[in-house]
Amino acid sequence: MTTRHFLSLLDFSSSELTELIGHAIDVKQKLKRGIQHRPLEGKALAMIFEKSSTRTRVSFETGMYQLGGHAMFLSPRDCQLGRGELIEDSARVISSMVDCIMARTFGHERLELLAEHSYTPVINGLTDYLHPCQLLADMQTWFEQRGNIDGATVAWIGDGNNMCHSYINAAIRFNFKLNIGCPVGHEPCDSLVQSAADRVRVFHSAAEAAENADLIVTDVFASMGQEQEQQERLKTFDEFQVSADIMAKADKDALFMHCLPAHRGEEVTTEVLEGSQSVVWQEAENRLHAQKALLEFLMQ
Ligand code: CP
Ligand code: NVA
Repeated sequence: MTTRHFLSLLDFSSSELTELIGHAIDVKQKLKRGIQHRPLEGKALAMIFEKSSTRTRVSFETGMYQLGGHAMFLSPRDCQLGRGELIEDSARVISSMVDCIMARTFGHERLELLAEHSYTPVINGLTDYLHPCQLLADMQTWFEQRGNIDGATVAWIGDGNNMCHSYINAAIRFNFKLNIGCPVGHEPCDSLVQSAADRVRVFHSAAEAAENADLIVTDVFASMGQEQEQQERLKTFDEFQVSADIMAKADKDALFMHCLPAHRGEEVTTEVLEGSQSVVWQEAENRLHAQKALLEFLMQ
């Protein structure tokens, strides 16, 4: 049997993703009711972090613990990956001892190489190109709040980055319309936009993208690895802040999401982030539940 990986939402079918989110909602309810659910007893997850993280690390580590398994944190500073051991060699060695690997890294091709040489499933914990685990949590949050997202309109405001790319994949798998509002020169990958056909439209105006949207989503203007561009990006993205005015363009019942960490006063105002339409805290918590469902799916 070939090893299933989760490098992109497109690695799973629409029905697998919907089923997975349904299971995430179930495991969340079990946890809230104090019902033990430990299907991964004796299993181990290796977590490789070549970039910083709060949510991804805490959710995967707690998730494995709650499922009865064990998670280990591997930083390049402390393991041989940081001293030049090949990713191919590391993949074979680590995966011969654990049941799953989660990795957060820079180039997506590095993660693909890891998956190619791993004997066990590999999960994308974020690359420069994609952040699919966050989309599981975002879709779970939408399902809990509003039900099916099929046919809804989502507005992505800001950088055409890894999160935006994963929203394009989500538009394909969950069949929603995606309006992207970004500055000229910061559009998402064109081939990805083309692959979504008429589901995705790119605007160079936040207000136009937000028009009648059911969900408004944003992310930092400078992602990890782009720290040098922070000041320049603040100027370029000046017109792309999600404010009360932008929320007013959307449907009156629209929700607001942000993968966090947020930079208040930059990509979003405090008023919107802390406002009644914001579901960012549920969204963050759902990283735990959605990834527990993912871990079960891949390890059982
Ligand atoms: N949203 C997210 O992935 O957060 P962390 O960088 O804290 O893991
Ligand atoms: N686009 C952001 C997401 C952080 C969770 C980054 O890559 O830094």
